[in-house]
Amino acid sequence: MNRVIEQLSTHRSIRRYTDRAIDDDLLHDLVRAGQGAASSSFIQAYSIVHVRDAAKRERISAAAGDQRWIREAAAFLVMCADLSRVARAVRKTRNEELAGWTEHFLAATVDVALMAQNVMVAAESVGLGAVFIGGIRNDPMTVSEVLALPDLVYPAFGLCLGWPDQDPEVKPRMPVDMVLHRDRYDAGRVDADVERYDAMMREYYAARSENRRSTDWSTPTAGAVQDKTREHMLAFLQARGFLKR
Ligand SMILES: Cc1cc2nc3c(=O)[nH]c(=O)nc-3n(C[C@H](O)[C@H](O)[C@H](O)COP(=O)(O)O)c2cc1C
Repeated sequence: MNRVIEQLSTHRSIRRYTDRAIDDDLLHDLVRAGQGAASSSFIQAYSIVHVRDAAKRERISAAAGDQRWIREAAAFLVMCADLSRVARAVRKTRNEELAGWTEHFLAATVDVALMAQNVMVAAESVGLGAVFIGGIRNDPMTVSEVLALPDLVYPAFGLCLGWPDQDPEVKPRMPVDMVLHRDRYDAGRVDADVERYDAMMREYYAARSENRRSTDWSTPTAGAVQDKTREHMLAFLQARGFLKR
């Protein structure tokens, strides 16, 4: 395995950091690495808001379920899907408006995710720790107000960055043969695969060094999706100009 594959395969989210700062040049390089990601039709439909103001970070942290690491991270970035420049290009060259197509929402959302993952990988390559924060979608309107996000820009998730003050184990992923199908999707094996992975995860949660739990994969997964439906999202996104058709 080369270093890149080794690093990608041993990612862990880091939620506890030392007091050391991240200098501006490094942050600039991380964003530049993020921008190196591929982009659907080269639309580059993303923007990042670096939240430096402590009071703003406090408000966002409260909106995101009071996650301590949002306040404590050396840097907190809000990763936004951003169609505002694309809309400008359409208006400028064709005198037309973007119409809120689902396809454009998907393209912008994929773009911001790829860019953000590049930032995380680049950060980890220099020894930083990182964790994404989907919790900001608990209250996307407050986050948008705090950051003055205009129409056609939505806060997809946050990214905390800092020098690690913890060393958690890598969470075991699903075995490759569970996620890799050959030539056709094999729907018949889902039940057995989930059983197998539940057993693996039960072992991992019981044995890990911090925050041991008696659980498997299915139980917290079901809780996460059924209890975290964020019913406001469709109306919020539509109010911002996304997902109208
Ligand atoms: C889009 C996205 C949103 C996430 N949101 C949160 C969050 O709000 N708070 C948090 O502590 N972790 C969050 N995470 C981290 C996941 O919980 C974590 O990646 C997952 O449990 C796997 O653990 P690992 O990253 O340590 O391998 C998020 C991850 C992703 C990809």
